Amino acid sequence: MKILFAASECVPFVKTGGLADVVGALPKELLKAGEDIRVILPLYKAIAPEWREQMEHVLHFYVNLGWRRQYVGIEKLTYAGIPFYFVDNEQYFGRSYIYGAGGDEGERFAYFCRAVMETLQKIDFIPDVLHCHDWQTGLIPVLYKLQYKQLEAFKNIRTVYTIHNLQYQGLFPIHTIEDLLYLGDLAYTSDALEFFGMCSCMKGGLVFADEITTVSPTYSEEIQTAYYGERLDGLLRSRVDHLTGILNGIDTVEYDPEHDPALARNYTADSFVDKVGNKLALQRELGLTVDADAPMIAMITRLSGQKGLDLVECVLNEIMNTGCQLVVLGMGESRYVDLFSWAQWKYPNRVSANFQMNHNLAHKLYAAADLFLMPSLFEPCGLSQLISLRYGTLPITRETGGLRDTVLAYNQYTGDGNGFTFLYYNAHDMLHVIENAVRMYHEERDVFNGLAIRAMRGQYGWDQSAKQYVELYEKLTAGPEVVTLEARDPLFVEEAPAPTEEAPAPAEEASAPVEEAPKPEPKKRAPRKKAEPKADAPAKKPAPRKKADEPKV
Ligand code: GLC
Repeated sequence: MKILFAASECVPFVKTGGLADVVGALPKELLKAGEDIRVILPLYKAIAPEWREQMEHVLHFYVNLGWRRQYVGIEKLTYAGIPFYFVDNEQYFGRSYIYGAGGDEGERFAYFCRAVMETLQKIDFIPDVLHCHDWQTGLIPVLYKLQYKQLEAFKNIRTVYTIHNLQYQGLFPIHTIEDLLYLGDLAYTSDALEFFGMCSCMKGGLVFADEITTVSPTYSEEIQTAYYGERLDGLLRSRVDHLTGILNGIDTVEYDPEHDPALARNYTADSFVDKVGNKLALQRELGLTVDADAPMIAMITRLSGQKGLDLVECVLNEIMNTGCQLVVLGMGESRYVDLFSWAQWKYPNRVSANFQMNHNLAHKLYAAADLFLMPSLFEPCGLSQLISLRYGTLPITRETGGLRDTVLAYNQYTGDGNGFTFLYYNAHDMLHVIENAVRMYHEERDVFNGLAIRAMRGQYGWDQSAKQYVELYEKLTAGPEVVTLEARDPLFVEEAPAPTEEAPAPAEEASAPVEEAPKPEPKKRAPRKKAEPKADAPAKKPAPRKKADEPKV
């Protein structure tokens, strides 16, 4: 099966969060399963020269983006056996940041979505499944359903849209997106892209993709409720027959305490006693009191409200009163930077706050700590708790989303469990669990270590989840077409875009594309065929409705 992932970040090329880990790891498993999997990403300036040097220029062309005519360069790199395509455009991606800041985020990713759709035929890779991730690619299913599906070569593509975090939705003024993509007025009604007066790219994916997935079974249930649903819970409930939660895995080769080159001391479940060597080394490195028996709590996290840091703020002194050491690693909101800077000042030698993205330090910390604190307000999946489990560092988590699916509370009567958990978003519930874990560390070290060893033996890779994705793709490509909104109302469907021409063969001008671009030729819109859509376009007749696909709201 031909599968194309479209995403805004991917390790090892560019990463701001867990999305990149998933887009980097899952294709490797799909390749192992025998799929023809490829990935398409923006070519950000932040992508290191070591990667750029390995890229080959495939082709370039121009796309119409409203009145603009924009350069699209396609660079290709094969890594770990997987072809990666990079969309090159200096204006949109030649900046020092990945997201935000420029005020033209909607334009950058609307461009990316258009460029992806225009690239398929040109690289001769029309996928069976086009799998999009998060809001940055949410307009791809929209473009496909409203425009490209009419093209004969494209008609069998199926789309999958994965929510990694429902909170980030890509909301832009409707006129901004309309001016770029010419989707037609009906695309901005409340059953399509309109969302409280704005255009929601996330909603585009949710309405128009054939299948929606999210990254844990519990989160797939939670987002159908008002508390977690970010005002999209009703829509998600209406698509529940096409919504699946598939748990993320981690890259077990990269995160392997037995061979991890970053560690002072490698160890396995059988040589668990060696783990403490990492604590001593890190205490020295960070200027903490060197003490093998001081329970070390780690937090490796984006410093944002989602991560439950408000709870930590409420009871930070009480946490420190347990006698623990606390090591924080991550970047984000200034209020949390202030909080942990203050804690470091108040508890010198016991708190170390590191406001950076530091891969190497992260590895050392996973290995050094005894406990890993992750009290998230919500957590679609969470990868850090999986990594900490693999390193025998027991997680303390709130029972939400993927945390609930992966961390089982220690049960003192049965001995079951692989960590410590609490249910309600309450600082003192969390504190109580931390106190109990620290007490166990001191008073019942055998039981504590037994849990950590069991945690290390768990399976955290992608095998099972990759199988579930393959099953989903197979079901989707073998089954009848999923009836989404546009098929229920053919008036939605816009003109198929005029095919773009390939630019002349690449020469030196490829490096200075913008200057070389021909004069903009505004695309002329054909008048809408509202009156007689069927007579004009018999091929566009919607597939017969299946009972199972009736909306539920
Ligand atoms: C987002 C979510 C996180 C998830 C990751 C990968 O970063 O917040 O929970 O693990 O995406 O899917």
